Amino acid sequence: MGYKTREWRNSMRVTVDYNNMMAKFLGEKGIKDSQLKDIKGKAEQAFNYVAENRGRDDLYMGWTELPYNQDEIVADILATAKEVRKKFKYFVVLGIGGSALGPIMVYNALCHLHYNELPASKRKGPKFYVEDNVDPVRMAALLDIIEPDKTCFNVISKSGATSETMTQYLIIADILKNAGVNIADNVIFTTDAARGNLIKIDKALGGNVKKYVLPDGVGGRFSELCPVGLLPAAVLGIDIKGLLAGAAYMDSLCSKPSISKNPALATAALQYITMNEGKNIHVLMPYSDNLKLMADWYCQLWAESLGKAKDYDGNLVNAGSTPVKSLGVTDQHSQVQLYIEGPYDKVITFISVAKYGCEMPIPHGCEDIPDVGFLGGHTMQELIQAENKATAYALMKAGRMNYTITLPEVNAFTLGQLMFLFEMQTAYAGAMLNINTFNQPGVENGKIATFALLGKKGYEGPKAEMDAAPELDDKYIV
Ligand code: PA5
Repeated sequence: MGYKTREWRNSMRVTVDYNNMMAKFLGEKGIKDSQLKDIKGKAEQAFNYVAENRGRDDLYMGWTELPYNQDEIVADILATAKEVRKKFKYFVVLGIGGSALGPIMVYNALCHLHYNELPASKRKGPKFYVEDNVDPVRMAALLDIIEPDKTCFNVISKSGATSETMTQYLIIADILKNAGVNIADNVIFTTDAARGNLIKIDKALGGNVKKYVLPDGVGGRFSELCPVGLLPAAVLGIDIKGLLAGAAYMDSLCSKPSISKNPALATAALQYITMNEGKNIHVLMPYSDNLKLMADWYCQLWAESLGKAKDYDGNLVNAGSTPVKSLGVTDQHSQVQLYIEGPYDKVITFISVAKYGCEMPIPHGCEDIPDVGFLGGHTMQELIQAENKATAYALMKAGRMNYTITLPEVNAFTLGQLMFLFEMQTAYAGAMLNINTFNQPGVENGKIATFALLGKKGYEGPKAEMDAAPELDDKYIV
């Protein structure tokens, strides 16, 4: 791995501390060493399943190879990003789900927290927006602040059939056309190599749209480390080689079939044990505003991957645990009361940062008011870290399971590690549950009903079924 020195890479290693899950600290409420022993065989099987099927497109496991097989694509993306930065004032991602949550998460993690408000001289790239909804008010608000002719629109959709993304595209294409702009000059498509509708649209536009491929074996929620995420990140001046190197480094840390040596296998096994004990709520609580949206990205990854009705043997299992996003310290003042005293149905995962991006000393003052004066002379980093430790301690004292993932600092390399850790953890957990981690049959019914309601051709059957549903009863409307 040619990214920085080995010493530097090792100093940036992301670690998992699960002491606060164990009986040694939680007594009867904790996991016993014997339980970890009992699950050893299942964990090994899950490890072997993932190891044996790495890279398989037919199983949607192509994401495992993204850290290694994109040299040419990365070079192309870096060149395009340079051009985009020169030519455009705004960069807008049009996408939803796996095509949006990654780009916005990485932007939030690695750019200035008020990036768009910075003067152009202090920004590495154009102003950046990710539109992942079809709320008309939001679309109108975007159109109020961008200049479409000076905007590069990155339309990200594997299928090119996603109603939300394609609605946004139709609106933007119409605006560009009416403004006399050649649409192909202001859009970049990230899509399936051959099949998606964006390929047809490109042809209709003359075949000149710049396109990136969302590889066959990579599903939306596992796509952040392919052009879906790499192009927007590169436009923002983010070190995309660092993201990939971080992912490869975490991959190397996950190369053993042993819970004590493989962090992703450890967290998957812990989650699996707790799910079987009925702890079906999984809170992700980063103590970092930069990692706030990591919780959104993770929630999709975990929920859409593991929430499955049937297992591979056709048994009705209704698998999965509910991911909940939280932010330290902010949510100490809203949710933590529930986590400490409510039902024993949760596992809390903290994401801690050893060294924040900057120091913020707390000045001395109000010395005669003890509640305030004690803060002076400390730093904000000390305070946020103390509150993080204190919350983990309070949970542990109350017999509540929690574990901590620590990033030495938030940078491209550690973020790449964290993403890959979560992806591997999800794949291992899915294998332990014996489910298909990589499909999403449950969301199809909602899509079909939307098509029916909007009169899409071919959906007359579902429309008739919806029309035949019982009339709404007034007595249930208040
Ligand atoms: O994870 C997934 O597969 C989904 O969230 C998709 O990313 C989302 O539905 C968008 O699909 P598409 O890329 O086809 O527009």
